Amino acid sequence: MPQLKSEYPLYLANEAQQPNTDLEVTDKFTGEVATRVAMADAATIDAGIAAAVEAAEPMARMPAYERQKVLNHCVQRFTERADELAFALCVEAGKPIKDSRGEVGRLIDTFRIAAEESVRMTGEVQPLDISPRAKGYQGIWKRVPIGPCSFISPFNFPLNLAAHKIAPALAVGCPFVMKPASRTPLGAIIMGEVMAETDLPKGAFSILPAHRDGADLFTTDDRLKLLSFTGSPDVGWALKAKSGKKKLVLELGGNAAVIVDADADLEDAAERTIFGAFYQSGQSCIGVQRILVHTSIYDRFRDMLVARTKKLIAGNPHDENVFIGPMISEGEAKRLDSWVQEAVAAGATLLCGGKREGAMLEATLLENVGRDINLNIEEAFGPVAFFEKFSTWDQAVEIVNDSKFGLQAGVFTRDIFKVLDAWDRLEVGGVVINDVPSYRVDNMPYGGVKDSGLGREGIRFAMEDMTEIRNLVIRRHGRE
Ligand code: SIN
Repeated sequence: MPQLKSEYPLYLANEAQQPNTDLEVTDKFTGEVATRVAMADAATIDAGIAAAVEAAEPMARMPAYERQKVLNHCVQRFTERADELAFALCVEAGKPIKDSRGEVGRLIDTFRIAAEESVRMTGEVQPLDISPRAKGYQGIWKRVPIGPCSFISPFNFPLNLAAHKIAPALAVGCPFVMKPASRTPLGAIIMGEVMAETDLPKGAFSILPAHRDGADLFTTDDRLKLLSFTGSPDVGWALKAKSGKKKLVLELGGNAAVIVDADADLEDAAERTIFGAFYQSGQSCIGVQRILVHTSIYDRFRDMLVARTKKLIAGNPHDENVFIGPMISEGEAKRLDSWVQEAVAAGATLLCGGKREGAMLEATLLENVGRDINLNIEEAFGPVAFFEKFSTWDQAVEIVNDSKFGLQAGVFTRDIFKVLDAWDRLEVGGVVINDVPSYRVDNMPYGGVKDSGLGREGIRFAMEDMTEIRNLVIRRHGRE
């Protein structure tokens, strides 16, 4: 079985450094300290940014085949180190081992997609002679790297959501500084170790775990041209206010809904909804929170889901059979537990679950949850979901849209007109038909509308954000 090292460094300008071991990383199931990690202070973050500025030109000049080579190296090394990465993830995030292995697979996919895209950054030839004044003119545009980037990654997918920033940056040739989540820094640090094996120009990357208080430079420093943040809506929008002239990408949360229409295959919809609501203890921005079910099948579908949810195995995430592990902290579990109690006190019915021990919260389902309470309007980000009935299609659309969030929505239906209508009318970044909103493949455009964020990830789309269009205008002169 793989083991963690007793301490891990930070990476400053591509190099491992161990100025301290100030950050304790706990095993999220046992609560014990699992390892220690170096923390960056403001001077170290400043040095990382300065190094990224120095690296901007050499990075921009790296030929595509060299950028691709770096990305392919990462693919190869992550594949070789897959067991170690999955183990670290299982410890630091409390993510069940099967899900941890799944995330390592996605990390590899994400870098593989970036390796492919890195040699496909194209532009366009554009005729400009649209009127007599532009006779003899044509344009050509290409994409150039935006420059040093700032990345802040979350705890719930410590590998793959860091990869969604790092891999496109390498693909286009942007240097970057990254602050991984303090509760789960190991994945990004191991990625740093792998990138340090390559010939990236000095300063191309710095991985700098830091306390939130000392980490303002990631947001405020004007030398950084883009800030890409994944995390909670409150923090994300607060960063926007401080980010100055930077381009901003915000991948924030949601209270995702799935519609189960009368004609759905109920067995399949139940199985997928269980996954969507409870995988990795519901700690996903696209985890199913609101389950909208047509009245004609409501009782049957609810009873199926409750019976299956009661059978989910919770416990030690290292156990191969465990589906529900701990939440990231006892504090988060308490917060969500209090929302469940608030809903019940306001008249909701608890159908199953609802008990908490430390950071372990049972898979919980409710119904009759009022529209104006936290569990309905805020992001639960834990293993709790609730049912709501609808009797017409328009009503289902209205309920999905009655949210300040809009990341993804799922619709189980066989009706092509409803498929197209959902695509047109649901106010979200992505609609998933015959599956849960929690479904994501790493090359698809991914991101939200309303309070769920700004911009899109998904390699090609992140690469667009990390580049600027530079135009060339050519006048035909001398030979009309
Ligand atoms: C997220 O929580 O935003 C990411 C979900 C995923 O990548 O599957």
